[in-house]
Amino acid sequence: MRLVVKGKLFTARGLIDGSILVEEGRIKKVVKGDPRWPVDEILDYGGRRGNVILPGLVDAHVHMRDLDLSYKEDFYTGTRSAAAGGFTIVADMPNTRPRTNTPRALKEKENLARNKALVDYCLYYGVPSEREHLTEDVQKLAVGIKVYMQDEFYSERRSLVENTLGYAAEKKLLVVSHAEDPAFFVHGPAGTLRTAEAEVSAIKDISGRAKDLNFRLHITHLSSKAGLEELLKQKRGVNLTVDTCPHYLLLSAEDVRMQRGIAKAHPSIKGRVDAKALLIAARNGGIDAITSDHAPHTVEEKSGDMEGALGGFPGLETTLPLLLTLVNKGILELGDVVRLCSTNPSKILGIRNAGEIGEGKMGNLTIVDLHRKFKIEPQKFESKAKFSPFAGREVEGKAVATVVRGIPVMVDGEIVGPRGWGMNAKTYG
Ligand code: DOR
Ligand code: ZN
Repeated sequence: MRLVVKGKLFTARGLIDGSILVEEGRIKKVVKGDPRWPVDEILDYGGRRGNVILPGLVDAHVHMRDLDLSYKEDFYTGTRSAAAGGFTIVADMPNTRPRTNTPRALKEKENLARNKALVDYCLYYGVPSEREHLTEDVQKLAVGIKVYMQDEFYSERRSLVENTLGYAAEKKLLVVSHAEDPAFFVHGPAGTLRTAEAEVSAIKDISGRAKDLNFRLHITHLSSKAGLEELLKQKRGVNLTVDTCPHYLLLSAEDVRMQRGIAKAHPSIKGRVDAKALLIAARNGGIDAITSDHAPHTVEEKSGDMEGALGGFPGLETTLPLLLTLVNKGILELGDVVRLCSTNPSKILGIRNAGEIGEGKMGNLTIVDLHRKFKIEPQKFESKAKFSPFAGREVEGKAVATVVRGIPVMVDGEIVGPRGWGMNAKTYG
């Protein structure tokens, strides 16, 4: 299959009007102008104002659910949601049922994903309950180990966590941390408040371990200004990276009060001052990446009071439009979005030949229309979870096509790629 994509290309050398030839899944040529290559398919965005061809977006934190939680989402619907939102690779968290923390569960998830996914994927491994479950399959199939610091076992089974972190250091596996220390949660009548102090304490703890044991650490979904300040302090002594999510940049505790359970997330959405500090850091490099934390639930699971509702909401179809809206407002540059959602997440996850448009790289592309205006309408989501704290927002900017290894999987909002096309991006050569 030979695909040509024409238009304004976002390359490491800047924006060029040109053409990309993708052959057998890889970018074969990137040239200026419009050569007449004999090809099977052409996506032509040349001369269209507002269309830009970006390196394929990568989301380093999603929950595809599936297995016993497939009533919330599965690998097919979740990756349709990714394709619709412009994402070419999604990294799936291990808090599924069953948990992805045994070699057997990991292999089972790999098979499931390979058969169902529309875009490429990475799999995280959870802290296992036995040392014997840290096997070669983990190195082969998992992109990293996810540590939920707020879980009981983190404090109760320190030696097991220590073993796992030591293993990650030895095998050079990434450790991704949900950094919240429950000792600093405040339980009140309006539900549990996950404070900034909880984030600060956990960042101190896990950074100290990264320093001692020498594993590569990534802190995910940073939510507070105090957490950011602590993190920047730690970054001077430890090689660590960090991401945040659109909801921590654009919503505040006030929005959560109004939307109640729908906007509930873990960590909790903090104040306006926090959102502003995170946004500045996303622009100036203090924050390395943006993830969606796509966390589907049913509407019933999100209703009720703040204590009863589950945390999280779908984000794959809102992340890029929200960020492009910031670009249109002059708050971010398009280059920031590419760095935060493609180049850096590819590097953080150690995915080879991704995150850049260049000869020899994978043929993963996200084509955007910077000026497409629309209203976020969750009932139109590909995700099974048809709600969002951003419902009703007017946004400007959207993915109009998503290409995974040379195959268009979404064009003009239609899912056109085959189920099962996705592969584990850890195995990219
Ligand atoms: O809001 C959240 N939802 N935060 C998490 O850490 C987990 C996630 C989920 O799995 O629903
Ligand atoms: Zn999550």
